Amino acid sequence: MYLLYLLPLIAIVNGNTIYFNDYPIDDYLEVKQSRNFTGKSILVTGSSSGIGEGIVKLFSILGAQVVVTGRNVTEIDKVAKEVEELSPYHLKPLKVRADLTKSDDLQLLLNETIKAYGKIDVLVNNAGVGSMSQLMDKDFMKSYDNVVNIDLRAVVALNHLAVPYLMETNGSIIHISSIASLAPNNLGLDYAMAKAAMDMMTKVMALELGPYIRVNTLSPGAILTDSFRDSKVPIIVKLRERALHNAPLKRFGEPLDIAKGVAFLASTDAQFITGTDLVIDGGLSWNYGGIIE
Ligand SMILES: *[C@@H]1O[C@H](CO)[C@@H](O)[C@H](O)[C@H]1NC(C)=O
Ligand SMILES: *[C@@H]1O[C@H](CO)[C@@H](O)[C@H](O)[C@H]1NC(C)=O
Ligand SMILES: *[C@@H]1O[C@H](CO)[C@@H](O)[C@H](O)[C@H]1NC(C)=O
Ligand SMILES: *[C@@H]1O[C@H](CO)[C@@H](O)[C@H](O)[C@H]1NC(C)=O
Repeated sequence: MYLLYLLPLIAIVNGNTIYFNDYPIDDYLEVKQSRNFTGKSILVTGSSSGIGEGIVKLFSILGAQVVVTGRNVTEIDKVAKEVEELSPYHLKPLKVRADLTKSDDLQLLLNETIKAYGKIDVLVNNAGVGSMSQLMDKDFMKSYDNVVNIDLRAVVALNHLAVPYLMETNGSIIHISSIASLAPNNLGLDYAMAKAAMDMMTKVMALELGPYIRVNTLSPGAILTDSFRDSKVPIIVKLRERALHNAPLKRFGEPLDIAKGVAFLASTDAQFITGTDLVIDGGLSWNYGGIIE
């Protein structure tokens, strides 16, 4: 009754379905349930701490079966316990210790996920390392190899192995990039390059994998993870102060700010969104500063 009240002139009652300008109202009503991930299997790399931890916690609250993975078993156990408590169904998450630079570990991560949940609906490539390297640093190439190996090569390798599973579910892939790929600064050349390559990977994969799999990037700004908040490294302290000062919204991001964006991109609300980059940075990338003294 109230629907007819809201749509007085245009609504047509046709059997049990109400149409609005030919768009089924049921599609509108479904949005109320779009963040309900009950029955979904969700794999988030680097989910034992930081942003990844926030992402698995939110997905667990939203009903999903999640995988908690990282390199540190103590951290995995701690996050897994919290995730279980947050689940409306008290679902125990799958725990997998994995080093993403090892191809055996990537295979194991997928095998265990399929064994536990039978499928993968959402893959979030979140794990990564930061860098403050410059081209003329003495050991720059060492930093470069490490950063590219973890932030880029491991993501490509996991995607390569995971896509056949995501094809079965018409799943979705989300790349956690960084505003460092959009707004250059003079520190972290290797990191910015790896993330920029990741952004292009999103676009090319969206072309290759449509119409079955949606692929999107999410670029966080300065997010107050434990390691970022607690760092006493002078350059990080400076970066932290500047990010707070420069961001139009005058605060740091929380892992939850990023998790909300991931939940949106993974949800049916984003079912016409692929190959794009969702920037969640409080506006910082427009006022980044570039040169860090
Ligand atoms: C989410 O969906 C499931 C069924 O798919 C349903 O049982 C559950 O009540 C829903 N949760 C909420 C909070 O609406
Ligand atoms: C694992 O994490 C715990 C808690 O953060 C920390 O105390 C420990 O040193 C870490 N272990 C390794 C091997 O990094
Ligand atoms: C994962 O499964 C594949 C295919 O079933 C198998 O060939 C491979 O040995 C397994 N790898 C691991 C590390 O469990
Ligand atoms: C997957 O998507 C394709 C293309 O849109 C569609 O034809 C197919 O029915 C979908 N499969 C599932 C399992 O949703």
